[in-house]
Amino acid sequence: MLTPNPQAMDFLLSRRSRPAKTLTGPAPDREALLPLLTAAARTPDHGKLEPWRFIVLERGALDRMAGAVTARAAALGVDEDQAAKARAAFADSPLCVAVIEVQKDSPKIPPLEQTYSAGAVCLALLNAALASGWGANWLTGWASHDRAFVEETLGLAENERVAGFIHIGTETSAPPERPRPDLEAITTWMDA
Ligand SMILES: Cc1cc2nc3c(=O)[nH]c(=O)nc-3n(C[C@H](O)[C@H](O)[C@H](O)COP(=O)(O)O)c2cc1C
Repeated sequence: MLTPNPQAMDFLLSRRSRPAKTLTGPAPDREALLPLLTAAARTPDHGKLEPWRFIVLERGALDRMAGAVTARAAALGVDEDQAAKARAAFADSPLCVAVIEVQKDSPKIPPLEQTYSAGAVCLALLNAALASGWGANWLTGWASHDRAFVEETLGLAENERVAGFIHIGTETSAPPERPRPDLEAITTWMDA
């Protein structure tokens, strides 16, 4: 058996996101962010395709994204509330890592498995940030699915999508615990 790691297990049993709108500075600097990205890239990946990459959005880029999302919302006729929420997500973020799913051509690995792996990278980055004492939150929103927006602002290619925007910073208040799934309802035990 592997050596148990009760501290890691305690973390996994109690971890929870910190809502992005409650995050403030300081955010991890480049040196502090590197181990978090390294942990995130240590994610199961069928066929070693590495179907993901990171775009680190620092202050200038976040402000540019905030401006661009406001303009895109106006062009699309997105309602004011949704537009303001999308703008604030970037404008108020201390730091954001866009986890980009990069679909690779493979005769063996289905696209869906590459999507799963990209989602796993998002959770690994979120958990690495939380485990390092940062507040962090995985968000997407309408703009992350808007091709024109992500191609123009992030330079995504056709085979790329935003799997998640992981906002990372300093927490200002711990959120209340939220109800967790009823294990009995979601678990089937098969012994034959
Ligand atoms: C793919 C994905 C996208 C999400 N996008 C949003 C979002 O745009 N806005 C939002 O309020 N929550 C969003 N959430 C939910 C938040 O991440 C929320 O903080 C999280 O479910 C809390 O779970 P935890 O406490 O177990 O970490 C998203 C979650 C996932 C998995």
